[in-house]
Amino acid sequence: MKVHGALRVPGDKSISHRALMLAALGDGTSRITGILESADVASTAEVLRRLGAAIPPLAPDITVDGVGLRGLRAPTDVLDCGNSGTTTRLMAGIVAALPISARFIGDASLSRRPMRRVAKPLATMGARFDLPEHGGLPMTVHGGALKDTIWRSEIASAQVKGAILLAGVVGGVRVTLDEPAPTRDHTERMLGARGVNIATRGTRIDLAPAHRCIAALDTEVPGDPSSAAFFAALAALADGGTLTLDEVCVNETRTGFLETLGRMGANVTFARDRMSGGEWISPVVVRPAPLRGVRVAAEIVPSMIDELPLLACVATRAEGETVITGAAELRVKESDRIAAVVENLRAIGADASELEDGMRIVGAHEPLRGTIKTYGDHRLAMSFGVLGALPGNDIRIDDPDCVTVSYPSFWSDLTRVARP
Ligand code: S3P
Repeated sequence: MKVHGALRVPGDKSISHRALMLAALGDGTSRITGILESADVASTAEVLRRLGAAIPPLAPDITVDGVGLRGLRAPTDVLDCGNSGTTTRLMAGIVAALPISARFIGDASLSRRPMRRVAKPLATMGARFDLPEHGGLPMTVHGGALKDTIWRSEIASAQVKGAILLAGVVGGVRVTLDEPAPTRDHTERMLGARGVNIATRGTRIDLAPAHRCIAALDTEVPGDPSSAAFFAALAALADGGTLTLDEVCVNETRTGFLETLGRMGANVTFARDRMSGGEWISPVVVRPAPLRGVRVAAEIVPSMIDELPLLACVATRAEGETVITGAAELRVKESDRIAAVVENLRAIGADASELEDGMRIVGAHEPLRGTIKTYGDHRLAMSFGVLGALPGNDIRIDDPDCVTVSYPSFWSDLTRVARP
């Protein structure tokens, strides 16, 4: 299999969610181009509509008239977040700062995911929460007046950080936040670009209070590095050719996978010399090369958290052992991504084992064959989809449609760039 040509992957999911939320809270009209048109982002759009914001149907070029920082209203119905953790946790932060109550629900996977991680800090700030015993959904948030807060987070999570910062901005309070390791910083960048006084020093973030409004601002959503990663992996594992991934967001907090692929021996190039809307954007060019196993530990995990299932798949074709540690967060994603990835790797004949906080994979050359149980997890479907595109492998995915959560055109893009 050879790769060829260029591909522009769909817009970044994290930036798309935030662009909609900040446009809804903005003072005036914001234009958003290149938003990700996927099920997760549609969940955020629908939740904002239920809170009174006029969000048009998702399209390549939309404009949103903001209702203002405190203009969202009590919803007349539940807020259905579908499969989207980012929608739930960030919107919980916004609701926490308003004099309204809202009940958040989601699909079976989202309903199992931990929400105390946002409920705890937001309750310290002054909101009230009704949570089921297991700490997931349905969750009711009773917002209200918040107070200045210093919060030292025990979990490296951009969703937790984003929830606290958005609550701080909407509530007009001072927030000092420390995270155990730097996580994706789109919330900070996007708030700063809209006139909010926010400063970062290492893992510490200071948000100043007393904003009456946030500026409306146009956003060009760059390509999602987590989506580009699948094609970077495909190109690295191909027999020949060159693949160019255009306009990828190469923010330092998102490029752990590309860097790791380079450490494994692949030929990966990108640059940080063009910035748009506060984000580095670059073509990423990948050429195949023989790969060797690699170690991935806690320091680099947050910058490639969503790409670890893919890395595990790539590792089956690398020489020697790959060990991922410090990644216990994988157990509370759309599926338990440690258990599910290892189970599926074994099901297709790969050598893989679970660690409490990661996994170990030994590469080989034998063909991989069998059926993948995705557990409805989009990233599992796409990671194993890449392995399935390699010659000799015969891999079926039980639920290929679950990719609509983050990358609806994944399968057609895969057929387009991979040539026998
Ligand atoms: C995201 C943060 C990460 C990531 C998710 C998107 C975000 O989750 O896995 O896909 O947009 O803030 P955590 O905050 O749970 O690590």
